[in-house]
Amino acid sequence: MNYAIILASGAGERTGLNVPKQFVLIENKSVLERSIEAFENHSCIDKIILVINPLFTDLVHEILAKNKYSKINKILTGGKTRQISSYIGVNAVEEQDAKVLIHDAARPFVSAKIINDCLKALDKNNAVNVAIETSDTIIEVNENNIIKKVPDRKRLRRCQTPQCFDINVIKKAHELAKKDGIDNITDDCGLILKYNLSDIYVVEGSVDNIKITYPIDLEIAKLILKKESN
Ligand code: CTP
Ligand code: MG
Repeated sequence: MNYAIILASGAGERTGLNVPKQFVLIENKSVLERSIEAFENHSCIDKIILVINPLFTDLVHEILAKNKYSKINKILTGGKTRQISSYIGVNAVEEQDAKVLIHDAARPFVSAKIINDCLKALDKNNAVNVAIETSDTIIEVNENNIIKKVPDRKRLRRCQTPQCFDINVIKKAHELAKKDGIDNITDDCGLILKYNLSDIYVVEGSVDNIKITYPIDLEIAKLILKKESN
């Protein structure tokens, strides 16, 4: 059984709008609908778990009523950090032998190819991440803004989602973090790595698989759609 867990419980503070970014329309369709459809329309995804912001349940139910998706399995309210929202989603999976693809609702352009590549990689790996090369050099600074390191760019990647796991492995990672009182890790693979639970295989993402974060990303999103329709 392949689950998509879509994390849509954030507030979207950095976009600075009066509604969280997952509800913003890009050419007549919201970011959330586009993210759901990527998985709804993929033949290898069986069920979708939605983790939503409790302040916007009515809006989500309106969106769901309008679209009549067939794979929505559970609608849960998230927590105060992404990690907690992910924990809530992961724990809602009952099957023992499930695979889960945990996706940011704020990435509306995840492609069928990325989902395919993730599922294929999950046949051989218990943890899979999606990432792309970095065009900028990345530096590490200390607390005084002094450069500590300039890591070799060839080895650096920018992480996207979905991040994909054997359900038992990611459940264990979240349980261990909970026990340790850690609740603010921004990426599920970070938990796997922290507790050394599995190698994490990396599949190639896409420059189109952006995370809507700042207002400019909504403009970029329109351009991505325009390019796709050409
Ligand atoms: N997310 C979530 N629960 C949270 C925080 C984030 O489900 N408590 C989700 C967001 O809805 C988003 C994804 O995790 O789809 C990535 O998080 P981010 O880009 O940081 O979104 P927000 O937290 O909404 O934005 P900001 O940090 O600017 O407030
Ligand atoms: Mg956030």
